[in-house]
Amino acid sequence: MSLSSAAKLKITPETAMSIQAVEKDFFLICELVGADPSSITELHWLTPENERVPDGEGFFRMGMKLSTQWWPEKKLVLMLPDLKETGAGNYTCTGLYGTERLSTSVTLKTFVPLSWQDAPVEQSPTLNKDFKVKCKVVANPAPFIDWLKNDEKIETDDHYVIEADGLLIKNAQLEDDGTYTCRAYIADIGTMSKRNIKVEVHVTPSFNKTEGLRSSEVVEGETVDVTCHANGKPPPSYTWIKSSKNANLGIVGDRFSVNDQTGTLTITNVKREDNGELKCEARNAAGFDTQAVNLIVIVKPNIFDLKNISSSTGETATLICRASGNPLPSLTFRKLSSSKTMISGAQPHDNRIVVEQRVDEQKKEAEGSLIISNVQRSDDGLYACIAKNKGGEMIKNGHLTVEFAPTFANTPMKEAWSWDKRPVNITCLAESIPNATITWRLNERIIDSTNPYFRIFGIGPQSSLLVTPSNQEYYGNYKCEAKNIHGSVDHTIRLHEARVPGRILQSKFEVATATTITFKIYGPSESGGRPIKAYVAQYKQERQSWSEAKNRTWSIDSPYTLEGLEPQTTYNFRFAAANEVGIGEYGGEIKHNMPKRSFPEEPTILTSNSPEGYTVSPYVDRFDFQWKIPADNGEPIDYYTVKCCPVQKSEVNKNEWTPTSDDECISLEHRTNEISTFELMGLRPDAYYKIELRAHNVIGFSTPAQAIVKTARGSDVTRTHDGSTLSSAIFIAIVIGVLLVIFVIVDISCYYVNDTGLLWLLCGKNSRKPREDDTKLGSEGKGLLNSGHREGKILVESTTPMIDNSLKKETAVQYDVKKAVSKTGFVGKDSAV
Ligand SMILES: *[C@@H]1O[C@H](CO)[C@@H](O)[C@H](O)[C@H]1NC(C)=O
Ligand SMILES: *[C@@H]1O[C@H](CO)[C@@H](O)[C@H](O)[C@H]1NC(C)=O
Ligand SMILES: *[C@@H]1O[C@H](CO)[C@@H](O)[C@H](O)[C@H]1NC(C)=O
Ligand SMILES: *[C@@H]1O[C@H](CO)[C@@H](O)[C@H](O)[C@H]1NC(C)=O
Repeated sequence: MSLSSAAKLKITPETAMSIQAVEKDFFLICELVGADPSSITELHWLTPENERVPDGEGFFRMGMKLSTQWWPEKKLVLMLPDLKETGAGNYTCTGLYGTERLSTSVTLKTFVPLSWQDAPVEQSPTLNKDFKVKCKVVANPAPFIDWLKNDEKIETDDHYVIEADGLLIKNAQLEDDGTYTCRAYIADIGTMSKRNIKVEVHVTPSFNKTEGLRSSEVVEGETVDVTCHANGKPPPSYTWIKSSKNANLGIVGDRFSVNDQTGTLTITNVKREDNGELKCEARNAAGFDTQAVNLIVIVKPNIFDLKNISSSTGETATLICRASGNPLPSLTFRKLSSSKTMISGAQPHDNRIVVEQRVDEQKKEAEGSLIISNVQRSDDGLYACIAKNKGGEMIKNGHLTVEFAPTFANTPMKEAWSWDKRPVNITCLAESIPNATITWRLNERIIDSTNPYFRIFGIGPQSSLLVTPSNQEYYGNYKCEAKNIHGSVDHTIRLHEARVPGRILQSKFEVATATTITFKIYGPSESGGRPIKAYVAQYKQERQSWSEAKNRTWSIDSPYTLEGLEPQTTYNFRFAAANEVGIGEYGGEIKHNMPKRSFPEEPTILTSNSPEGYTVSPYVDRFDFQWKIPADNGEPIDYYTVKCCPVQKSEVNKNEWTPTSDDECISLEHRTNEISTFELMGLRPDAYYKIELRAHNVIGFSTPAQAIVKTARGSDVTRTHDGSTLSSAIFIAIVIGVLLVIFVIVDISCYYVNDTGLLWLLCGKNSRKPREDDTKLGSEGKGLLNSGHREGKILVESTTPMIDNSLKKETAVQYDVKKAVSKTGFVGKDSAV
């Protein structure tokens, strides 16, 4: 028995309480110890429910497939493959040792190891909503859970409720963001596991709804960005949807692109069909919100219809202009020749013109009408239709043609002239729209176009009839008739035969010098049809016959002057008028006895006098002047004398000038009869001078021509100098001054010491030549000129003096007619012979 008592069954592992993980293959070994293992019989296993586990496989209990195996030395192995929680319990091994039943048990406890069943590491409550931070832990035995937020313990309160499967956050707020730690304690085995869960409170996207319906205007053809922005956490991503088609624009087409981060929709080359509602949708984990945007595509105006019209005077013309665009454009008109755009309705300056506008929303077009009632010819022209909306402007021109019946209002020709069978053009110009055709008649008979004496150039609107009047029948009334669909009109042009002018009515002798004579001619009463172009004079000495006469032709309105006549000779003169046709009969005969030779006529100084009666020289020190060469009265002028004396205004008589000092007079000779200009030099600034000019011939001097001249102020000239010349002038003046002082000192010392020097000479003679010397200077001016004491200078010009070239054609020399009259005393003798 003691032996038997030593024998017992042993289960390996022998720990009464086994800690086992689930879902692992597990086995228990039962063997006899303390005796020969083979002496055991009936060895078998019992389940916790005391069921015998049969040998072999295929025993399903407690959710497991139990089986047994025999190992050497009669060890019975219970295989518990894939051990489940349900497999926990007391397993018993029992057998017979002889007759003694041996049993031993082992308690198998199963532990399900901790697993995080539902505990995401990032969780997102939604703002203002309850949220359970999930932390579902699976373990057996059940663990104890507690929570930390950012390492601080959380207790259940009115905000947090710790529940078995998580932490309930009531009314989540942004402050609830943080790292939460879910800790699981398993007391039985003394382990703790923890998991950090990042909690971020999400905010549902929301658009600012107070803005109302947003609308965005974009211009057709351009590239635009449309943006939307919603608040949300995390930042939402955006999609754009075209409401009418419910199409996601981010996907739909190449003209659209969407930045889902910024919410910007970019539309390139905006098309008018893009017009309409778009929806922007902002979405994040917490939800979404949408906002509608009304996209208004501005389409620039397009005038697609504007026709040229034509109308006849008196009717009503309507110019219609049609345009599209978004928004529909406003339409106005402007006449191209005017700068003013017309207003809607009747025009204030002309209520015949009315502008109307209509809008057809259906067809999406605007129509403008320009209505002109009682159309006038002046209404003809181009009219601009101007279509405008906020996208831009379009202008198109339309023409209004105003048709009207022909008119000869601008045909100037009323009469035509011919002579000697000269061909002449008779021209009519008819204005009309459409162009008129012109037909010709002579004395009411249609022109025979086969007649070689007529040729017609053009049949309208201009027509010329070239007539060769081979006989008297071709002179008469020519009528041109212009005709178009609106009417006809005629115009008469008379063709006259032109003749030479009639006899001169009268001629009068006006002025004569010894060698020249000037006439006044009264033209003939009959011009012969053509204007008088010239007068012809014939003249002869009294004893000669008319066949020996000389002739001279004057163009009309020139001085009718004859030159080169013999003094003290009696002449006969007669005159004829000439026109294109020829020279008329001579008439208006005069006889005149030419005066004897004498000194020349007084020259005339050509100056522009100021109202005060003097000429202002532009220079400080000189004066240029010209004169008219006078008639020489039979002997050629050989020279002129110029005398120039300083003068001042007389105190007594304001119009008189009195000499200030004869000392300063300059007298010069001008030896020429060609040049009639002269330059006086060496004058003082801002001073008055009297100039006397005389002409001389062998007989003597003419009476003097006089002029008063004033030189410019000195200051006027200093302005014109530049600084350097001024300063060098001053420098030279100082040097000369110093030299003079030295000279005077030397001279004075010479005078006293040596009885020599200038002073001695002057004082020694003691009688300085009196004034006569100076007056003599006049005639001997030339010598003085050469010695340089006087600054006067003769300017020799190579060109002939200007005066009037047209007059010059007529007469070789200029004569001052009035002077000649007064000086030669011929006044009163000018009666016609
Ligand atoms: C209208 O008239 C203008 C000028 O007379 C011309 O340039 C234009 O081509 C015309 N338009 C039509 C449609 O005939
Ligand atoms: C007449 O007018 C026509 C056409 O204008 C022209 O060709 C012709 O030379 C003119 N003849 C004369 C003599 O003026
Ligand atoms: C009308 O006459 C003008 C001037 O001669 C010419 O330029 C124009 O072409 C004509 N018009 C027609 C329709 O013949
Ligand atoms: C003028 O005279 C010249 C010759 O002295 C002569 O040839 C010419 O025919 C004359 N003219 C007139 C219109 O008498």
